[in-house]
Amino acid sequence: GPIKVLVFGASLRADSLNGRLAALVARLVERAGATVDLAHMREFPMPVYDGDAETAEGLPPGALALRERLEACDAFVISAPEYNASVPGVLKNAVDWVSRVRPQPFKDKHALLVSASPSMVGGNRGLWALRVPLEHLGTRVYPDMFSLAKAHEGFTENGDLSDTGLQDRLADAADSFLRLVEADTRYVCLQRR
Ligand code: FNR
Repeated sequence: GPIKVLVFGASLRADSLNGRLAALVARLVERAGATVDLAHMREFPMPVYDGDAETAEGLPPGALALRERLEACDAFVISAPEYNASVPGVLKNAVDWVSRVRPQPFKDKHALLVSASPSMVGGNRGLWALRVPLEHLGTRVYPDMFSLAKAHEGFTENGDLSDTGLQDRLADAADSFLRLVEADTRYVCLQRR
């Protein structure tokens, strides 16, 4: 069947620029042939990680919900803001909670990282910082990352990018990413036969 991709906007803000970028990537990945589960950080409320709050029953409900959505997909896309040139605490906190589950849900999954920011850097430094915990957890982070600068003026009314060159580049990235995930998933199936 089709590859399942969780597309995840990693800001809590209802009107998040990264939520908008996530929605666009969801459409592009769907057009490239995948089944998409679009998620927003607000669906996964969780406290700040505390080792004393981690009981035998496990994780807070928000972290368990995120873990389930991850487990149900073959690959994931994160659209993440950049805070002070790094990963927002909310996102790192979610990664930390979910990483406590076994089997560890980030391991061996492919991920495409994108970002949106009103600044000229577009959040790219935050994505480089996000690679560190994800690669540590065994995620296969796609080499090419996409960052949308001046994102507050970057979208058309129907949610595409106003710059058609950038829109094409993002569509290409979504497509290449999906082809890689498909090829790798087929290879794993062949190995298991
Ligand atoms: C920011 N912002 C920001 N932007 C950027 O490009 N580089 C940065 O280092 C930072 N740092 C930063 C720190 C903090 C604490 C906040 C609250 C914001 C601006 C940020 O990109 C902007 O608020 C985006 O709109 C956040 O993404 P969402 O919520 O719109 O998805």
